[in-house]
Amino acid sequence: MFKKINSYEIEGNAIKLFKNDCPIVVFGNLDKHNGLTVAWGTLGCLWSKEIATVYVKPTRYSFDFANTCDCFTIMWFDELKDKVNKVFGFQSGRDVNKEQLCNLIPFELDGGIAYKEASLIIVCKKIYQNPINKENILSEEVLNKPLYQDGLFHHEYFGEIIGVYKKYQ
Ligand SMILES: Cc1cc2nc3c(=O)[nH]c(=O)nc-3n(C[C@H](O)[C@H](O)[C@H](O)COP(=O)(O)O)c2cc1C
Repeated sequence: MFKKINSYEIEGNAIKLFKNDCPIVVFGNLDKHNGLTVAWGTLGCLWSKEIATVYVKPTRYSFDFANTCDCFTIMWFDELKDKVNKVFGFQSGRDVNKEQLCNLIPFELDGGIAYKEASLIIVCKKIYQNPINKENILSEEVLNKPLYQDGLFHHEYFGEIIGVYKKYQ
């Protein structure tokens, strides 16, 4: 059902994959995990490793999962995309079971949690996490974002890409 591919074989533009296609990120283990839609993220290279970064605001239910997990997954969906983003991007795991609402079937993959219905899965081993420091933000425009008027800045999570899987029919 899924074919393991090389990270160089990921199709599409890395910026568009986050900014336009808005994947979900799932943190945690099979017993206890939670995911959210993200638009902020990158794919690239750091410390000679292939890396993905994602950013989670402390107000999210996913935040504790992000801080304590060893691995996280980044997933894109084809037909289910709109439904998944409506639930994972606008509802909280505090209030609802998002995967049940979307009929997603979780399974363990390289230490991360993936969904059988995803079209592309990137599994990352978390190797760095850090709060974004307000004092280091050089852009007034960023500091003035309505999202930051509560004074709570995202934390950043860097994952080493350890597996990329593409659905084949
Ligand atoms: C298109 C879109 C992109 C989003 N990007 C991010 C993001 O990059 N980081 C983040 O912390 N929240 C982001 N959010 C907000 C979370 O997905 C949303 O607050 C979610 O309900 C949090 O779920 P949780 O409380 O279960 O963690 C985004 C929401 C949408 C709709």
